[in-house]
Amino acid sequence: MAEFLGLGLTHYPLLSVADDRMADLLRWTLADPGIPDQHKDPAAWPELMRREWAADGGTAAAAGHRKHLREDLTACRAALDEFSPDVVLVWGDDQYENFREEVVPPFCVLAYGETEVCPFEVMNERGAPNVWGLPDDMTFTLHGDEPGARRLANELLEDGFDVAYSYQKREAGHFPHAIANTQLFLDYDNAGREFPYKILPITVNCYGQHAIARRGGLARFADIEDERLDPIGPSPRRCFQLGGAVARAFAGTDLRVALVASSSWSHAFLNDKDWHLRPDTPADQVLYDAFVAGDWDTWTATTGKQVVDAGQHEMLNWFCLAGAMHELNLPLTWSDFVVTDVFNSNKCFAIFDGKATS
Ligand SMILES: [Fe+2]
Repeated sequence: MAEFLGLGLTHYPLLSVADDRMADLLRWTLADPGIPDQHKDPAAWPELMRREWAADGGTAAAAGHRKHLREDLTACRAALDEFSPDVVLVWGDDQYENFREEVVPPFCVLAYGETEVCPFEVMNERGAPNVWGLPDDMTFTLHGDEPGARRLANELLEDGFDVAYSYQKREAGHFPHAIANTQLFLDYDNAGREFPYKILPITVNCYGQHAIARRGGLARFADIEDERLDPIGPSPRRCFQLGGAVARAFAGTDLRVALVASSSWSHAFLNDKDWHLRPDTPADQVLYDAFVAGDWDTWTATTGKQVVDAGQHEMLNWFCLAGAMHELNLPLTWSDFVVTDVFNSNKCFAIFDGKATS
């Protein structure tokens, strides 16, 4: 029988740039002329936000945020090494990278082999050099699992789950940073270049109605007013069901399978009601409390509209993980919820016991 480990972590792109640039998304938001001035005034901000921003635009707080995230990533990597997986399956969003106007699949199994990936593409476009001091065009090899991905897609289809599959990245497309940064951050010391495990990605259309409309998420309020929304993404409940189906697809194998959700939780730049200034921490706290309690009823009762209103689009990756953990009855053995106002998104890290057998 297969053995499983569950992990949840962040793919926060700004962790890959220097401390003095880590609050760049907030700086970009503060330059939006569509946001009333009174909301941009730090005097009106919550205490945490003022403390993090301080007098240095968040640079000192960034060092603390990086330290915290690195400690949690180290915990996840240690669990992964102890488990020694045959394959690391990652649920991650495609943020207007590989999938654009040509096609946006709700779920897509990436059946890629060895793939050269530049993990700095996202931040290169924003003019922020990487914190490792490496060339902007540095690449690492992402070890795909092409036969495993084919088998998984087949199993899911046989189980009545109509996933898409892809054998080749779009020629001009970026490799999804949700997947690339999983390798980059789980091997932070080596900037992802010595990650030894095979990665089997499943992309999730987390951005849904904003997938094309906001081209990866960042938008000015003037553009939002008359934006043409795309069809919605898969519902949280459907993502939960996919997780269960993926767990079942592996259960009869003799593989050691790590199942990983890759994303932060609420994102400031998607949280329209708070003027894109900070994440929706109360909404995240509700789901985190339920997560820790194993209260999956609360998770599956969550609607897509609630997720979008809270800027939690990317949490659909976590709904997939939750569904798998529910299916396998794996207990949560460790988690950490990292709250921030200035660094765009709250981050969650989680480990589900790898010693339990299906
Ligand atoms: Fe993302």
